[in-house]
Amino acid sequence: MTDPDLANIQQKALGDVLAAGTLAELEEARVAHTGRRSPLAVILAGIGGLPPERRGVVGKTANAARRAVEQALTERTGVLEAEEMGAALERDATDVTLPGDLPPLGALHPITQVRREMEDILLGLGYRVADGPEVETEWHNFTALNTPEGHPARSSSDTFFIEGRPDRMLRTQTSPVQVREMLTRTPPIYLVAPGVVYRRDDIDATHSPMFHQMEGLAVDEGLTMAHLKGTMLHFFRELLGSEREILLQPHFFPFTEPSVDVQVSYIDKAGRSAWLELAGAGMVDPNVLEYCGIDSERYTGFAFGCGLDRIAMIRFGVPDLRLFFENDLRFLEQFS
Ligand code: DAH
Repeated sequence: MTDPDLANIQQKALGDVLAAGTLAELEEARVAHTGRRSPLAVILAGIGGLPPERRGVVGKTANAARRAVEQALTERTGVLEAEEMGAALERDATDVTLPGDLPPLGALHPITQVRREMEDILLGLGYRVADGPEVETEWHNFTALNTPEGHPARSSSDTFFIEGRPDRMLRTQTSPVQVREMLTRTPPIYLVAPGVVYRRDDIDATHSPMFHQMEGLAVDEGLTMAHLKGTMLHFFRELLGSEREILLQPHFFPFTEPSVDVQVSYIDKAGRSAWLELAGAGMVDPNVLEYCGIDSERYTGFAFGCGLDRIAMIRFGVPDLRLFFENDLRFLEQFS
């Protein structure tokens, strides 16, 4: 074994390391030049068998060669890793200036939009939102609302009853929420109760067996018809425009006395003005207060109820009630 041999081995190893263009090629060079069967390893393993005077010099040179090759491997590894990382980054680069894929955005149903607006107006007057069950008892839906047995509204031709539960029915109005709230709270009470109601109606452009109502109730000391009128005027002006006027016309509801129809001024597309009947209202009948355990000598109250679907039709110019329930996206997308 001569020194030029070692020099050649080192030369060849360093050349291969530098020539490796990928980490895989570099790994091949590492195995070939520093692995157990590499020429350098064989020389190092054979040092013990050399004549003593050669051992020192061959050992020194061979170890120096191994260190040089190992250092070259380390450096080349760093270079190739950086290169491969750079290439991967370039390959996977994202152009953040490209427009993204927009997921289809939903929107609130027009009935929901109107309901929220109505709630907001009344919340602004200090009302709170109340809720009640859609499957009601006849007592809450009728009896406590001063609608005695035998009243035509209670007949099965107007109301859906529940089979096998003679006392249960789908509520025909949101008014029973008044009863539930008055039974569990003490005045002052200011509540708004939106919800779904059910009646045995055939479906057409202006009728549906399922529709939406919103109930309002105020019970306090000293409430009069003037408070009712002011509340209705504010409510409809906020909802439909500050130019609206309202007209209260005498009417009958079992649970209010006196009772009125609330009519709201309206200019149609042809410029003709008209009155639209948009709510029922009245002073809470003292009988109802007493049914609900409220002292009718001390407290008075007013109530109002309106159909949400009808107001949404006017609000959005929708000609057919059925559109609200059919869930046709071509219709619904217009409200997003
Ligand atoms: N519940 C009535 C209906 O469905 C509407 C109504 C009228 C509600 C007068 C009221 C009211 O609170 O005072 O026709």
